[in-house]
Amino acid sequence: MSRLNTDRPYDIVLFGATGFVGTLTAEYLAAHAPDGLRWAIAGRSGGRLERLRERLRERLPGGAEIGVLRADVSDPASLRALAEQARVVATTVGPYVEYGEELVAACADTGTDYVDLTGEPEFVDLMYVRHDARARETGARLVHACGFDSVPHDLGAYFTVRQLPEGVPLTVDGFVTADAAFSGGTFASALNQFARHRGLRAAARERRHHEPRLVDRRASAPLGAPRYAPEVGAWALPLPTIDGQIVRRSARALDRYGPDFRYRHYAAVRRLPVAVGGVAAVGALVTAAQVPSLRRRLSDRLRPGDGPGPEKRARSRFSVRFVGEGGGLRVYTEVAGGDPGYDETAKMLAEGALSLAFDDLPPAAGQVTTAVAMGDALIDRLRAAGIRFRVAATR
Ligand SMILES: NC(=O)c1ccc[n+]([C@@H]2O[C@H](COP(=O)([O-])OP(=O)(O)OC[C@H]3O[C@@H](n4cnc5c(N)ncnc54)[C@H](OP(=O)(O)O)[C@@H]3O)[C@@H](O)[C@H]2O)c1
Repeated sequence: MSRLNTDRPYDIVLFGATGFVGTLTAEYLAAHAPDGLRWAIAGRSGGRLERLRERLRERLPGGAEIGVLRADVSDPASLRALAEQARVVATTVGPYVEYGEELVAACADTGTDYVDLTGEPEFVDLMYVRHDARARETGARLVHACGFDSVPHDLGAYFTVRQLPEGVPLTVDGFVTADAAFSGGTFASALNQFARHRGLRAAARERRHHEPRLVDRRASAPLGAPRYAPEVGAWALPLPTIDGQIVRRSARALDRYGPDFRYRHYAAVRRLPVAVGGVAAVGALVTAAQVPSLRRRLSDRLRPGDGPGPEKRARSRFSVRFVGEGGGLRVYTEVAGGDPGYDETAKMLAEGALSLAFDDLPPAAGQVTTAVAMGDALIDRLRAAGIRFRVAATR
């Protein structure tokens, strides 16, 4: 069990519990809560929280003893009070670059472990610059991107590295295939990010000024070029998501990734026309997001709280295939599961919070990735919860 804060009233507080992914995460926790878990749902609307608690109580075995906490991102004192009552805070309140900072600040200052679902590099970089040092002082672990962004990629690369020899240069390529359907919250976060490229670059620059240089080791995650990848039998399109940056940070922090590590992150698409169409659609969305009136009209099409229904989610799947090489060995691995954006994301967030609260983990503090903070313990939890991590072949 974590050394931190065992005297606090709750092991886990879930903030944003009444949103789309928040509700799925609350249902997951209620269905899988270990005996004696002390947890609370938190959000800005007391009425919605009470209705959610009633539903959880009626339907699920672990629903009986759930606390309710009111907190609003526009009221920093309420976030501080929330952080002080929890050993671990899990939050789904995004776009994080708009709504997230005060809670990170409160957790860093009160020594409270923190997990979120952000896929926003600007937010992660700013939180590093502003709150990493304080979190190191208090012992808080600040774990961003604990959903489909970036758990399968970060833990998948970590798992692949563990199959390769130690102490030699390593390369890992990740190839993602996933069904994508947006919730209102994800769509809003994506549009918001597309419109903020200047802020994104400035935050990355600021981070580089603050981050200590690696001595005697290298870790990189360059954007690859589009290509046909015979090793996975698909077209590989470079994916400029946060995932490559997260994998690189794990490689910086952990010697096991060797003296010279390189990761490249791709979408894998079987048919060339689909690949070309996908690039054009994203390009059109990025362009439209630059114009405020178009952005508003787009975001009106999918409201906060909306998202794909249970049938659509039940048909959705993801797979991330990795090809790792080093020391004369080539290894093929895969991480795969069900609906990536929502069901599996809720599972990853909940299991991440449970892992921080209860697993015997390596010492860590400050802004850390899932591989650094939880590594094998979270892989074991996700495997037990139905997400596959497997070695497909070694040559
Ligand atoms: N990493 C991943 O793979 C992944 C996957 C899915 C989603 N996400 C991210 O997760 C976030 C949530 O997505 P979602 O679809 O669940 O969005 P959502 O349904 O719109 O939920 C947002 C939550 O934020 C709460 N909120 C908004 N303003 C607030 C305020 N002032 N004070 C307190 N709470 C406030 C909402 O409360 P109310 O219920 O009271 O409105 C709601 O609970 C998004 O940023 C999305 O990008 C990431």
